[in-house]
Amino acid sequence: MKIEISSPLDMHLHLRDGAMLDNIAQCSSNSFAGAIVMPNLLPPVTSKEEIIAYKKRIKLAIKDDTFTPYMTLFFKNSYDFDFLSSIKEEIIAIKLYPAGITTNSEGGVDGFDIESLKMTLDAMSELEIPLCIHGETNGFVMDRESEFIPIYEKIATAFPKLKIIMEHITSKDSVQALDRFENLYATITLHHLIITLDDVAGGMLKPHLFCKPIAKRPEDRFALRKLAFSGHPKVMFGSDSAPHPQHAKESCGCAAGVFTAPIALQVLTELFLQNSTIENLQKFVSDNARNIYSNIVIPSKIVTLEKRSFIVPSNYGGVVPMFANEEIPFSIVDIKG
Ligand code: NCD
Ligand code: ZN
Repeated sequence: MKIEISSPLDMHLHLRDGAMLDNIAQCSSNSFAGAIVMPNLLPPVTSKEEIIAYKKRIKLAIKDDTFTPYMTLFFKNSYDFDFLSSIKEEIIAIKLYPAGITTNSEGGVDGFDIESLKMTLDAMSELEIPLCIHGETNGFVMDRESEFIPIYEKIATAFPKLKIIMEHITSKDSVQALDRFENLYATITLHHLIITLDDVAGGMLKPHLFCKPIAKRPEDRFALRKLAFSGHPKVMFGSDSAPHPQHAKESCGCAAGVFTAPIALQVLTELFLQNSTIENLQKFVSDNARNIYSNIVIPSKIVTLEKRSFIVPSNYGGVVPMFANEEIPFSIVDIKG
């Protein structure tokens, strides 16, 4: 049996920079037609010059692959209308991080009072620039995402024309929040469809499954699966594939992030087939994103997968992927475009 996916998109991806970018960029650009590239470099991407230069480095790293990097700016509440109009053509969205909540987010937002966000979010609404949010408070780690929901709701109410993407949702509370506001959307990762906290810390600690937001309870995973498998039009695949060098993961003070780029489409295919919802895979990995981010141009690329087992390599340029050394049942057998 062959499964074809047309122009798969990864709507939340960390490509890093320098040697790491060169090592891992093609893990995504080989099989995806495009991806939203996160701006949490050190220092974060906050100017037009940096965006243009970073995009150039990405293009070099992906070599001849058919792949569009959709660039993002790191949110600052000092961005005004003129600045954002001058940068609009270079970006697909702006990514907001609460300060210090995850990798390289120290320069993020300190408070969420509407007054302090107003200038930038008014300008984004006017210019139709979507806002991607890492929605976690600094509360107890299992509750951070749920505690952030009132902030999503406050922003969604105050800026009804703003498209707000709840990034990498992990809890049933977020699933329920999605439909309460017309202007809320969501991405879901591969790993949060598969693991719970038990897989991370229930037995021997698994550093390669440690990420932010942390994987939650079985009922949360169930709600995420139901939502993703339904092909819900407000939900997109965003891998949040976040490579760290092996030594940074296998260390005390383990870096957060799961590296899934090389196996994402293969394992998504398996999951959607298992759940008899393969017809919705195309919506989840491409069509919904095309509709939500209405102005994007997407390269045409056809990826064919087949039931043929594949042993996942132990590492890609010093980064350990999810399912390293394990056999997965689906392989990519052809890529056109
Ligand atoms: C990401 C990273 O390493 O950049 N880590 C992660 O655990 N997901 C940042 C992020 O998206 O939170
Ligand atoms: Zn991320």
